[in-house]
Amino acid sequence: MTVPALKNVLVIGGAGYVGSHAAMALSQAGLTPIVVDNLSGGHESAVQWGPFERCDMRDTAALTAIMSRYSPGAVMHFAASIEVGIGEREPLAFFDNNVAGTISVLKAMQETGVDKLVFSSTCAVYGNAKPPLTEATPHNPASVYGRTKSIVEGLIGDCVRAHGLNAVALRYFNACGAALSGGIGEQHDPETHLIPNALKAAWGLGGAMKVFGTDYPTPDGTCLRDYVHVSDLASAHVAALDLLAREGGFHAINLGTGNPFSVLEVLAAVERATGKPVPHDLGPRRAGDVAVLTADVSTARDKLGFAPKFSDIDTIVGSAWAFHRKAWGMEGA
Ligand code: UFG
Repeated sequence: MTVPALKNVLVIGGAGYVGSHAAMALSQAGLTPIVVDNLSGGHESAVQWGPFERCDMRDTAALTAIMSRYSPGAVMHFAASIEVGIGEREPLAFFDNNVAGTISVLKAMQETGVDKLVFSSTCAVYGNAKPPLTEATPHNPASVYGRTKSIVEGLIGDCVRAHGLNAVALRYFNACGAALSGGIGEQHDPETHLIPNALKAAWGLGGAMKVFGTDYPTPDGTCLRDYVHVSDLASAHVAALDLLAREGGFHAINLGTGNPFSVLEVLAAVERATGKPVPHDLGPRRAGDVAVLTADVSTARDKLGFAPKFSDIDTIVGSAWAFHRKAWGMEGA
């Protein structure tokens, strides 16, 4: 792996779920993650591999000062409002955080001459497009969240053309699991994601969970998703820095496995991991869900050498379970 000339990497949103795992991967690659986070969704306890600067990315002057102080070789930008349902109710807040926030990041980078960016994007830019989804699939977001990410990708592309920025947009499919070495994992509030909700239900916290929709055109009637372990996503971010060192410009890259699982298959994996049944009710579809999301991952393989190590469903669920048992104070139970 080629290590960039400047070893500091600014990790905006590095106290959050994917950002904290990327900070760990950067540290393991011999780089120093400088975490910038406003702690609106992140956790200071997840900042373990380098300095922490509490700052809202929309404060351009403060962000510019941080960039001047640390002279990072690159920026990784994870900070965003992510909960799809909230975005539908609060579009202005989503555009302010996700779009205006990124404008501030790009201004601070331009001001300080930092010319490499790895941006957290999402399969939500594709909306209801027919799978498998390649990077050439046109953007057609079905949610405010997806629209903000799609707009930001366009903006970054414009800065690549106009200002000589070099950037990789990594389009995650379903990020899940937790670092096998322990200590960090998924802690959203509210938690809307399938795996933590199923683990909660199995452990008797909060009652039965809901399966959203059983009449989709899939083999068992529930939605198919492409679950990818967060530590595999994190490694891809380090590989993206290497790509930018070799080849500038703008790259959009899907990150998934290409091997989707249904909601009921995930519940079966949760039962295997916990040894307990998952109490669940079969309910109606959730607004905004599409039947199948699965990635074409050939670009990730070609450009990043992406070869997921932890993304089989039992490792994903087992690692999430180990993290949550600890987080819920049930270790040893
Ligand atoms: N699901 C349930 N019950 C739950 C939670 C989820 O049945 O309690 C189902 C959903 O309907 C969906 C699947 O489980 O079919 C996965 O749902 P998640 O909420 O875990 O993940 P999503 O696929 O909705 O969302 C993910 C990312 C988002 C991103 C979106 C792109 O977490 O950030 O993909 O569509 F925007």
